[in-house]
Amino acid sequence: MATVSIRAANAGDAGAIARVYVRTWRVAYRGLLPSRALNDMNELRETLYWWTTLCEAGADTFSFVAEDPEAGVVGFVTGGPERARATDRRAEVYTLYVLPGFQRQGIGKRLLAAAGDRFRRGDFRAMVVWVLAGNPARGFYESRGGSPCAARAIRVGGRQVQEVAYGWSDLSAFSAGIDADPAA
Ligand SMILES: CC(C)(COP(=O)(O)OP(=O)(O)OC[C@H]1O[C@@H](n2cnc3c(N)ncnc32)[C@H](O)[C@@H]1OP(=O)(O)O)[C@@H](O)C(=O)NCCC(=O)NCCS
Repeated sequence: MATVSIRAANAGDAGAIARVYVRTWRVAYRGLLPSRALNDMNELRETLYWWTTLCEAGADTFSFVAEDPEAGVVGFVTGGPERARATDRRAEVYTLYVLPGFQRQGIGKRLLAAAGDRFRRGDFRAMVVWVLAGNPARGFYESRGGSPCAARAIRVGGRQVQEVAYGWSDLSAFSAGIDADPAA
């Protein structure tokens, strides 16, 4: 199998990121989120969202994609300062998705390592990621050394769902080779 590379995303990746986002949500969250919310997702609308997000990204946020030489973008991760701002120096992984068919091949691990490494170089002390309480991806974060550290309820598609936060208090374990633009 050809090697998947991890690189900084640019606005031209918006359509590919939207495709990964919508397709992965529809598989991963079936049964966890209301069907209507999943069915109503729209790749064109998401492309506009991601294009805007990538164009307006500040210096303290980032997006990396995992790119397969044949299939194109098959995963992505985004992050920046913690949105809830519980502490000054805690970072947050906002999104992490790997396309079904490319999961369990080590891509998510490399994307998370890239995020952790970026945070560490950005002088963050710790990081957090929120995950649906019923999401099997909790096992992924546990395998990466994350520990449950908070819980909350949010509303998605008119239904209340539980989320759990996984936290890392030491980012020194994360170091990842980003294949392009080490300053990104
Ligand atoms: C969660 C996700 C990002 C993980 O990426 P991935 O490429 O499938 O994971 P990797 O192949 O890098 O796995 C890394 C490790 O986590 C473990 N792992 C991965 N998914 C797991 C799961 N669902 N349950 C338990 N362990 C899991 C693997 O066994 C592997 O362990 P190892 O390094 O000891 O072999 C990906 O599966 C995904 O996008 N899932 C659906 C969407 C989602 O839930 N995203 C997270 C939103 S918060």
